[in-house]
Amino acid sequence: MRTLTPAEIVLMRKAGALTRDALNYAETLVKPGISTYELDKLVEKFIIDSGGTPSCLGYEGYPASICASVNEMVVHGIPSKEVILKEGDIISVDLCVTYKGYIADAARTFPVGRISFEKAKLIEVTKECFFEGIKHLQVGHRLGELSHAIQVHAEKNGYSVVRELAGHGVGKEMHEPPTICNYGKETSGPMVIENVTLAIEPMINMGRKEVWLLEDGWGVITRDGKPSAHYENTVLVTKDGVEILTI
Ligand code: MF3
Ligand code: CO
Repeated sequence: MRTLTPAEIVLMRKAGALTRDALNYAETLVKPGISTYELDKLVEKFIIDSGGTPSCLGYEGYPASICASVNEMVVHGIPSKEVILKEGDIISVDLCVTYKGYIADAARTFPVGRISFEKAKLIEVTKECFFEGIKHLQVGHRLGELSHAIQVHAEKNGYSVVRELAGHGVGKEMHEPPTICNYGKETSGPMVIENVTLAIEPMINMGRKEVWLLEDGWGVITRDGKPSAHYENTVLVTKDGVEILTI
């Protein structure tokens, strides 16, 4: 967790706006019949045309500009010509944009056409988990207060929290300290300081919390095959409160 200068905050706001715009564009493309490969290529072009750089491309060897995770895939789905969206699916799109050396990170889960009530509720509750969490994100308070609030909201709704994946600091690097768990005790984690940028990202499973890593070394899926949702924003914490940079 590092205090940003006012000039750095200006660049993080711009990176955040580009990330938001790319996700909003992705949402317009999500329809039955499109492959996740096509989605990736179109969003990649959008990011570049808007003046940003897709930060995921080449990150630790990752081969695409977005992560496209369908149904039981939790995160880091590699886009593929073979994965074609169909009515009733849900797809989590996770992407990062770099602007003048500063990175923002955000994710949304979108419905493909008409989806079941159960999947729609999972998407909604995952988003609520983010907003419940940030109510507890305050300078001078422990990060564990946010973690705990996310876990309580997910479990109250009968869902489970993935343990292996977490939020993180974000700024000059995609992943900076601290690790921000989506579960845990209120008294855990470091004390929040002012003028920091953090990626808060609940990943919530409809069924059990356990996950598998796919053989491609990236994709993470639920062990029970039930759907999972993701909702992430990059936020700026100041003494006046939380500013969400990617909405
Ligand atoms: N955006 C992801 C995160 O939340 C990272 C994606 S991994 C990458 O941390 F390789 F695709 F970049
Ligand atoms: Co992230």
